[in-house]
Amino acid sequence: MDLYEYQARDLFERYEVPVLAGIVADTAEEVRAAAEKLGGVVVVKAQVKTGGRGKAGGVKVAKNPDEAFEAAQQILGLDIKGHTVERVMVAAGADIREEFYFSVLLDRANRSYLSLCSVEGGMEIEQLAVEKPEALARIEVDPITGIDAAKAEEIARAANFPEELVAKVVPVFQKLYAVYAGEDATLVEVNPLVLTGEGEIIALDGKVSLDENAEFRHSEHAELADKSTEDPLEAQAKEQDLNYVKLDGEVGVIGNGAGLVMSTLDVVAYAGERHGGVKPANFLDIGGGASADVMAAGLDVILGDPQVKSVFVNVFGGITACDAVANGIVGALDKLGDTANKPLVVRLDGNNVDEGRAILERAAHPLVTLMPTMDEGADKAAELANAR
Ligand SMILES: Nc1ncnc2c1ncn2[C@@H]1O[C@H](COP(=O)(O)OP(=O)(O)OP(=O)(O)O)[C@@H](O)[C@H]1O
Ligand SMILES: [Mg+2]
Repeated sequence: MDLYEYQARDLFERYEVPVLAGIVADTAEEVRAAAEKLGGVVVVKAQVKTGGRGKAGGVKVAKNPDEAFEAAQQILGLDIKGHTVERVMVAAGADIREEFYFSVLLDRANRSYLSLCSVEGGMEIEQLAVEKPEALARIEVDPITGIDAAKAEEIARAANFPEELVAKVVPVFQKLYAVYAGEDATLVEVNPLVLTGEGEIIALDGKVSLDENAEFRHSEHAELADKSTEDPLEAQAKEQDLNYVKLDGEVGVIGNGAGLVMSTLDVVAYAGERHGGVKPANFLDIGGGASADVMAAGLDVILGDPQVKSVFVNVFGGITACDAVANGIVGALDKLGDTANKPLVVRLDGNNVDEGRAILERAAHPLVTLMPTMDEGADKAAELANAR
């Protein structure tokens, strides 16, 4: 989950990373009030989850509350790379002497953490990496020891910080790492980290991505989620603890086990090529215990997607045998009643497959078609989706 800049700023503050005062506002009037409260020069900054806000006109300096009001009028509603600005942050203005870059991130390829740092901040780091790679220090960070004082110093020196600044940035790097580790982030980036006229180091911008796999130990992160941009079906699935990802096709997919579901997506996509180009509508792994309740919750989410034209249930019975799954499907259809209104293709295999199939045949639900193999099931589901 990516955070907004103002959320990153709040987190930084909690970890004692030096930041400037900031007030969020949704209207130009609120911006004027915020500028009055902060006093002096302020910067009105678009809050969108994309980079390059400055270049797009989403960051404006204002010398007084009236200018802040005007800046807000220009920024609110602005489209920045497909993101409409609904909210801004009014930040105290900094007297910038120099701009630096610092980040720490999860380096998946090397199964480690990586810190990137440069005394040439402010500009886009991707551009710096291409045009002046020698100006961007890349220092591996051992996840066990993290960024301690010695590591922070190594990073500062590798990035060519002048000697008198090294001692100043070292504690800031350590605190930024404390945010990264403490919040289970996959990215903490500050661009620019600035040196002010008074000789202070301040994080003027912040990008933080949190690792959703660590949510179980950060119940407070739920508050950071942006309900307005969240997909309602994904939200519903999350509430039910289902592993669901919305895709943009027409064939709903339910399976047990992530590997099986992923290969089902492939098989459905191939089958779709023969049936008008229909595609999988979602990823949904109902996991090992495919009870009627779980099956009903899963079907309910999928059937709630107006784009879905047919559903392919592809289950390999293991610990939860096919008869239990079949009972789950029948129970789910009973439970859903009229809400279940799209054709369902079921392929069952594995433990107790004969009993499972017999249960579905006996139930003879008008919406259910039983197919013997995964390929045939995918083909049937694609055909049905294309016919509707
Ligand atoms: N509080 C502030 N006071 C003075 N100048 C600021 C302040 N915040 C930002 N700036 C100036 O505006 C520039 C752009 O700000 P910022 O880094 O927050 O946005 P951006 O880099 O354009 O956006 P993104 O990080 O999304 O690409 C900074 O490099 C800095 O020069
Ligand atoms: Mg920036």
